[in-house]
Amino acid sequence: MSRPRLVVLISGNGSNLQALIDAVRDGHLPAEIVLVVSNRKDAYGLIRAQTASIPTHYAPLKPYTDSGRGREAYDADLAAVVHAHQPDVIVCAGWMHVFTPVFLDAFPHRVINLHPALPGMFSGTEAIRRAFEAYQREDINMTGCMVHEVIPEVDAGAVIASMDVPIYEDDTLADLEARMHNAEHGLIVRAVRIVLEQISE
Ligand code: GRF
Repeated sequence: MSRPRLVVLISGNGSNLQALIDAVRDGHLPAEIVLVVSNRKDAYGLIRAQTASIPTHYAPLKPYTDSGRGREAYDADLAAVVHAHQPDVIVCAGWMHVFTPVFLDAFPHRVINLHPALPGMFSGTEAIRRAFEAYQREDINMTGCMVHEVIPEVDAGAVIASMDVPIYEDDTLADLEARMHNAEHGLIVRAVRIVLEQISE
């Protein structure tokens, strides 16, 4: 039987992509990464994919906005590229683009996203920094990360898995970022495994 097919979407460093690549290689994730898409040309994650012999696709938004075709045309074209790779699950791992229903409706319940905050907290960008600042104000005493189904509302959608991340008094922001990324690398593998089990039932 062929293994479930993952498409991973990235915009930057790709350390979470690397966690998935390593988990597949080490037999902890019974899947195959069939395509890595980046909306940024200089994303280091593209090099990680190439090193692992995974096909890559660069999908910049700018040509669409410059020509007035807009986000829906971008989402439709990207959906066609992704669809051609017949994914079972599409994993947004540091993907900095908010999808319209044009993309999401092409893959119902199959697009998931990693977010470095707990459900309902710090949606949008700079979530780790905002949690760190909230801790300094004594508004929160810990943070966390989650993987959720993607819906048009940013960083919302049914939660697949989450993990608490402690914050300590003498933490710098860099300390918290490092602890968060470490937690994310475990969580993303666990969440993809959960989704694969759900869809095989
Ligand atoms: C992660 O913290 C993810 O939660 C956030 O962007 C970061 C991506 O890191 N949305 P990387 O590119 O996987 O290293």
